[in-house]
Amino acid sequence: MSRVYKDNVSDEWYFPSDGYILSETDANGIIIYANELFCEMAGYTLDELIGEPHNIVRHPDMPRIAFKGLWDDVQSKGFWTGIVKNIRKDRGYYWVHATALRRVHSDGSVTYLSVRRVPNREEVSSCITLYAELKSQE
Ligand SMILES: Cc1cc2nc3c(=O)[nH]c(=O)nc-3n(C[C@H](O)[C@H](O)[C@H](O)COP(=O)(O)O)c2cc1C
Repeated sequence: MSRVYKDNVSDEWYFPSDGYILSETDANGIIIYANELFCEMAGYTLDELIGEPHNIVRHPDMPRIAFKGLWDDVQSKGFWTGIVKNIRKDRGYYWVHATALRRVHSDGSVTYLSVRRVPNREEVSSCITLYAELKSQE
């Protein structure tokens, strides 16, 4: 049985609070790793995700500035955390509390890892308002 489930009244999807959605990208944001929960929540097979840009799950409600902050912070500080609304292959959506980290490997190459947990609903509510405002200013 799948651990992920959908709201009856909206297209929102949920995952268990002990689950972590993981993905890793190369330096250019191309997906090089995704765990099973990522595949289940995004509604893609692993094969469909590997080699694709991470914006494959970008939801149109997300303001551009959120991702500018993500990239600026992971590149300069090596760390970013925030609330993200993602879109599924079937056009449903899900919210996550994401932490992205820079990894510097022994050969000098850089990859980025993101670990996502269930956000609390207060965080989601304030982001719905904030992102709508930011989006209207684009
Ligand atoms: C490790 C990592 C994880 C990311 N996770 C997401 C994500 O879950 N959803 C998303 O929309 N963008 C994510 N991004 C940002 C995308 O690379 C991209 O910048 C964003 O989707 C905006 O797309 P655009 O640059 O085409 O406007 C992630 C980037 C990195 C480095």
